[in-house]
Amino acid sequence: MVWIIGNKGMLGTQVCRTLSENKIDFLGTDSDVSILDYTALEGFAAGKKISFIVNCAAYTAVDKAESETEKARALNADGPRNIARLAKKLGVPFIHISTDYVFDGTASSPISEDAPIKPIGVYGETKAEGEKAISEETDDFYILRTAWLYGWSGKNFVYTMIRAMNSHDSVKVVNDQKGTPTNCVTLANVILRIIGKRAEGESVQNGIYHVTDLGEITWFDFAKEIFAQGVERGLVTNRGCAVNPCATEEYPTPAKRPAYSVLDKTKVQRTLGITLPDWKDSLAEFLRSESFDNERIR
Ligand SMILES: NC(=O)c1ccc[n+]([C@@H]2O[C@H](COP(=O)([O-])OP(=O)(O)OC[C@H]3O[C@@H](n4cnc5c(N)ncnc54)[C@H](OP(=O)(O)O)[C@@H]3O)[C@@H](O)[C@H]2O)c1
Repeated sequence: MVWIIGNKGMLGTQVCRTLSENKIDFLGTDSDVSILDYTALEGFAAGKKISFIVNCAAYTAVDKAESETEKARALNADGPRNIARLAKKLGVPFIHISTDYVFDGTASSPISEDAPIKPIGVYGETKAEGEKAISEETDDFYILRTAWLYGWSGKNFVYTMIRAMNSHDSVKVVNDQKGTPTNCVTLANVILRIIGKRAEGESVQNGIYHVTDLGEITWFDFAKEIFAQGVERGLVTNRGCAVNPCATEEYPTPAKRPAYSVLDKTKVQRTLGITLPDWKDSLAEFLRSESFDNERIR
């Protein structure tokens, strides 16, 4: 039985959907069984034949983290430590999700898993602490660092852009931060693959993996493609909306963002024998699906 922690979040919802579609038995918990409470976690697992734990719970408010440091640290570092400790006690593998924000954004070519980490904000710092905590508690872990996530069931850039495009004559989007958007489906499929391989008794090397869709673009490039595909699908109805580039400086935020956060995905593709999708194809899948939530673009 796979245990999905954070099953009500954007990624957690998708992971549950993917497991369900593939007929894998799972249980889900969210804030009802707090990751901050080891005893509650242990109590939940008791007698349930847990075979795998996947943690999608986190503190994800990047800007608010700058002023809620302790809350971010508790959820991003102490919580994952509790889960890792329990995974070790139960003798089961643990998949955890981390972020490109553990890097400082000064690289100029795709970043590999062993590149030195150097977070530039509280969110990234606490996520990096979570990675370390996990490796201190258990050996049987997979930390999947991802970036620029969007999914059908959460607030995200794609929905926000379409809404803005339909209600404004123009939108301005930063053109000096490079990375790769990632459909939650991509990440959920990687999680499924790891669980499947292990369930079949195949060994999958433990450690850190970089998992995003393929490509290297700016948020402005992403917005332009959302506009183009959105118009094609009838989701962007305001065809006259102009999509303009701007510099990060024009929109100061409490937390600094890495300027370059393209992750090198060679390791995950080689280890799992998969080819990750291109970001444009993933966006197309997102927009054409029945799961696309029209309420979120009104
Ligand atoms: N979103 C991105 O762009 C992005 C990029 C890179 C990496 N990531 C990582 O990807 C993972 C999934 O992100 P996401 O965007 O899907 O997150 P999300 O939508 O914010 O979901 C997080 C979930 O954790 C739950 N939670 C909060 N406190 C909890 C607690 N004490 N115990 C148990 N559950 C608790 C939340 O419940 P409440 O709503 O009730 O608080 C929420 O359902 C995270 O590890 C994140 O750091 C995300």
